[in-house]
Amino acid sequence: MAFTHILKLLPLLVLADAQGHSNISLGTSITASGAGDNNPWCSPSGDFAFGFQRLENKSLFLLAIWFDKIPEKTIVWYANGEKPVEQGSRVELTSDGKLVLSDSQGREIWRADDQVNSREAEYAAMLDTGNFVLGNRNMSTYLWESFKVPTDTMLPTQVLELGGTLDSRQERNYSRGRFQFRLLNDGNTVLNPVVSEFGYAAYYLSHTFQTGYQVVFKESGYVCVLRRDGSIVNVTRGDIFPPADFYQRATIDYDGVFRQYSHKKNSNSSEGWSIVSFIPNNICDSVNDARIHLQPQNDGGGSGICGYNSFCSLGTNGKPNCGCPPDYSFIDPNDSFSGCRPSFLQGCRVDEWKAPGDLFDIIELPNTDWNLTTYQRLQPYDENQCKSSCLNDCLCSVALFDGVVCRKMTLPFSNGRQSARVKTQALIKVRKSGLIERGAQISEKKDRSMLIKVLSGILGSSIFLNFLFLAAVCRVLLYINHKNFKKSDRVFADSETNLRTLSYKELEEATQGFKEELGRGSSGIVYKGFVEFGTRRPVAVKKIDRVLQEGEIEFKTELRVIRQTHHKNLVQLLGFCEEGGAYRLLVYEFMENGSLAGILFGNTQPKWNTRIKFAHDIAKGLTYLHEECNIQIIHCDVKPQNILLDDKFTAKISDFGLAKSLAANQSRTRTAIRGTRGYVAPEWFRNTPITSKVDVYSFGVLLLEIICCRKNAVQEARNEYEEILTDWAYDCCVEGRLIDLMENDHDAINDMKTLERLVKISLWCLQEDPSRRPNMKEVTLMLQGVDEVHMPPCPTSNSIC
Ligand SMILES: *[C@@H]1O[C@H](CO)[C@@H](O)[C@H](O)[C@H]1NC(C)=O
Ligand SMILES: *[C@@H]1O[C@H](CO)[C@@H](O)[C@H](O)[C@H]1NC(C)=O
Ligand SMILES: *[C@@H]1O[C@H](CO)[C@@H](O)[C@H](O)[C@H]1NC(C)=O
Ligand SMILES: *[C@@H]1O[C@H](CO)[C@@H](O)[C@H](O)[C@H]1NC(C)=O
Ligand SMILES: *[C@@H]1O[C@H](CO)[C@@H](O)[C@H](O)[C@H]1NC(C)=O
Ligand SMILES: *[C@@H]1O[C@H](CO)[C@@H](O)[C@H](O)[C@H]1NC(C)=O
Ligand SMILES: *[C@@H]1O[C@H](CO)[C@@H](O)[C@H](O)[C@H]1NC(C)=O
Ligand SMILES: *[C@@H]1O[C@H](CO)[C@@H](O)[C@H](O)[C@H]1NC(C)=O
Repeated sequence: MAFTHILKLLPLLVLADAQGHSNISLGTSITASGAGDNNPWCSPSGDFAFGFQRLENKSLFLLAIWFDKIPEKTIVWYANGEKPVEQGSRVELTSDGKLVLSDSQGREIWRADDQVNSREAEYAAMLDTGNFVLGNRNMSTYLWESFKVPTDTMLPTQVLELGGTLDSRQERNYSRGRFQFRLLNDGNTVLNPVVSEFGYAAYYLSHTFQTGYQVVFKESGYVCVLRRDGSIVNVTRGDIFPPADFYQRATIDYDGVFRQYSHKKNSNSSEGWSIVSFIPNNICDSVNDARIHLQPQNDGGGSGICGYNSFCSLGTNGKPNCGCPPDYSFIDPNDSFSGCRPSFLQGCRVDEWKAPGDLFDIIELPNTDWNLTTYQRLQPYDENQCKSSCLNDCLCSVALFDGVVCRKMTLPFSNGRQSARVKTQALIKVRKSGLIERGAQISEKKDRSMLIKVLSGILGSSIFLNFLFLAAVCRVLLYINHKNFKKSDRVFADSETNLRTLSYKELEEATQGFKEELGRGSSGIVYKGFVEFGTRRPVAVKKIDRVLQEGEIEFKTELRVIRQTHHKNLVQLLGFCEEGGAYRLLVYEFMENGSLAGILFGNTQPKWNTRIKFAHDIAKGLTYLHEECNIQIIHCDVKPQNILLDDKFTAKISDFGLAKSLAANQSRTRTAIRGTRGYVAPEWFRNTPITSKVDVYSFGVLLLEIICCRKNAVQEARNEYEEILTDWAYDCCVEGRLIDLMENDHDAINDMKTLERLVKISLWCLQEDPSRRPNMKEVTLMLQGVDEVHMPPCPTSNSIC
């Protein structure tokens, strides 16, 4: 064993010997070679070498200084940590006295910059201290020294001047890490986390404000701050390590701990480096130390040692072990210092109409706190009060409970720690399982289109994504629609359709020459007629104005959309006429009782229970359009005029002329212009994607109108604040005077619970932020009383609710 070690060392000793002198003359270079023999420049003793070190990725090299006589070849300085170079790269002491690293293509990667004097070096030397220098014979100081530009390590005799910094590296490579050891210009020596050049509050402080001026690694084996009065303050606490027998170094490690190490020289054993001492004693606690936190040059605590939302527990040799709360995971699974993020949806956005207390659970984490980032303090509180307060507070992510005081936190929280000495218990709020995946059920439906299947699967993931993806879906659908139109101008009579093709003449007769007008739709007039479908039955014939380009588009859309749908709450299309390009007619089932607008705002109001049934019917129809048919259809024009009632007063949605539009810019504008005041969702007027939530908004308005039997906007209201029903309803709901809304409808007033539920549902649908609105399926569940309905917030963000 010992023998093989000697054999290993032998060539190195010979090499150092063979080189004899260590002054490197101008024009000399080293090339990084994969063969392993990189001929470094060694110090006279052979203890240190300067040259290329191969990295873990064997095709990359680091220009470095290392301990050359020990098996580990520990690196103490490096030039190109951020940019390792490949085989064939070269470091050269040029003939004009510059030290330059260039990559295999000859591009300069790094150079030893002499900023003080632009004198030319005459030689370079690897010194026995581990300092690599460039010198000029008639100058007393060196032109450049690796000791003056340290990386993460100090060696005995090395000095850090005011402003000097050691930067830790990453755990797995030599890129710059997260921590610094610095001698600040104010004289204090500190350890601090650093994020993109900004140093956060220190977790170690030497208390040498205005007095310290140098940090020195004493050869006898400790690091200290020299003060101007000649006294010293020890940073590390050394033993006696005779330089003849020991190597030493002090390194700010990737975990933020500044450690002093020693290594026996000429050791036969493979003991390696041993830790002599380290600071701080307890890195997890130290950030919570108020003295250190109140550093004048720091304006924030940052994330602490372990990153946001994590906690730190002390391991051996001062090592921080970082952990995540339950149901949280590391942002970078390979990096425990990257911080944590919740694996579930935060806040109360999804299922908001439920009491927040029903959405979440509390998991207890003993001996843990995040002392610095609480936003609310409640006392005296018991544990259950603390839990319930956090559960019912949408902002609260974690509560800290110490037996008397309950402190609540919101994301992100920082400087977490876990130790037996911490008496606080952390109450972590996590989403109840089962509710997370709620939206994903949509994807289980058998969609004919693979595309939609894939996209809607993604929809389950988050509200934000929902929003973006719905927009994408709409655009894609629209694109497909366009393509379909092009290739199939006349394919509607295909076998899939139950639609009957009728001639213009037939329809002219059926309507007795378009005599009895039923109403006017968005692009044409509707007439009553009778058509033979086995038996003679009444129909509504919509004659579309062929002159208008839009009329043509609407005809096709309506035909295409409605022929794919079949639901008892949608008006059924029975046939159409598309003759010779001149006539465009659509034939619907005849709806005995006209439009909802007619009966709702007419003289005799429908009864409370009938109205509730209307709401159910319409919600079911919209749910079908949004979620249950083969493609998602957004109606885009939900209003009482477009809801028709059959002989049994079943409400059915009609007029799909605008449904195609989805996200197309052109139709968006058009609908905005046409949309009846009060029914149009606010996002139409913004430059945001349109989703099925626009129908939810319109449904919200419609529902209020159904509840109150009045139009949303009334010019001659009793007083000003009653003019807009949606605003008034919110006020009444908040102030608990829903009776005001109902005039003399005793059935409704006697059914206050249902009334309140319906008003709340409509206010949820009217939320300005589409993501806060429930989807139609959820609305249906709420209407049925399956889901509890929580008090909605003010629908608009900026008004005077
Ligand atoms: C390197 O050159 C300098 C300047 O001439 C000289 O002082 C020093 O002794 C030389 N070092 C070695 C090891 O030859
Ligand atoms: C090693 O580095 C080379 C050059 O940058 C790169 O192409 C290669 O993918 C790396 N290999 C590994 C295993 O990371
Ligand atoms: C070093 O690792 C960090 C984190 O793992 C990474 O962000 C960085 O890009 C790496 N640097 C290099 C030069 O590979
Ligand atoms: C430095 O050395 C150069 C020759 O190498 C000489 O010409 C010059 O006078 C010297 N300068 C000083 C200040 O000694
Ligand atoms: C600093 O540490 C050294 C070595 O452990 C010790 O000899 C010296 O007394 C200490 N100085 C102070 C001021 O604590
Ligand atoms: C190393 O091994 C040799 C031979 O086995 C022995 O003579 C020498 O004392 C050992 N040195 C140390 C430092 O253990
Ligand atoms: C984590 O490390 C493993 C193995 O080194 C690697 O395969 C995986 O891609 C890494 N994951 C990430 C997210 O970097
Ligand atoms: C935060 O931690 C520090 C240090 O442990 C402690 O002195 C302080 O009282 C704590 N603050 C609170 C609000 O608990």
